[in-house]
Amino acid sequence: MDTRKINGAYSTGSDLSEQIKEVTKDSHVRAENTQLMLNYQKGQITLPQYKILLCSLYEIYRALEEELDRNSAHPAVEPIYFPQELSRLESLERDLEYFFGPQWRKKVTVPAATHRYTERLREIGRSMPNLLIAHAYTRYLGDLSGGQVLLKITQKSMGLGKEGVAFFSFPGVTSPHRFKQLYRSRMNSIELSEEERRKVLDEAVKAFEFNIEVCLM
Ligand code: HEM
Repeated sequence: MDTRKINGAYSTGSDLSEQIKEVTKDSHVRAENTQLMLNYQKGQITLPQYKILLCSLYEIYRALEEELDRNSAHPAVEPIYFPQELSRLESLERDLEYFFGPQWRKKVTVPAATHRYTERLREIGRSMPNLLIAHAYTRYLGDLSGGQVLLKITQKSMGLGKEGVAFFSFPGVTSPHRFKQLYRSRMNSIELSEEERRKVLDEAVKAFEFNIEVCLM
């Protein structure tokens, strides 16, 4: 199936899940190569950096999951709405409590880039729910892919045991590989006009850009 960009337009006829992967390929390489992610992979992330990252993830998922909940019956959201399996908010709350203590809510601070990202999520949730597909894809499929590898790295770099790493576990997902296949097939079942599809693909590139900026903290 051809998913290349032809004359500036995305070729039609292929699945959304393939097109979205293709158009965000370069962005993914750039995300992997931010200093923070390079350090992370080398096990060189510091505790203060990790705490800021957790705060950002909390604000991002709070906005994303509130907007998904609010739009759960929307035809573009319903097929990819998996709160039981994917929700990250509660696990992030547990991790924040572990790192910041019972008063963690008062201690959450995030970089301006995170605010810009959450503002965009709110705007989309209010007036362009189709575009939630792009943001849910970028975060959830990324986190499902990182999974066990990132869990191990995080535990090792910060000397953690089972506590403080709830974010990396998806107890409702037995096989991340199979779940990603299901998720892709659900994405592909969403009916979109060509223009709507193009907007979703453009938004996915933006979603990666927001994440890259958060990583530049
Ligand atoms: C340490 C940095 C990162 C590494 C090592 C990494 C690595 C990976 C790997 C190995 C996969 C699986 C590829 C496959 O199954 O074909 C993947 C998928 C993915 N990653 Fe990352 N990633 C990183 C950062 C990010 C970031 C920052 C984002 C965006 C927030 C992201 C979003 C995604 C998405 C959406 C997928 C699913 C692609 C698809 O199957 O359509 N990743 N990543």
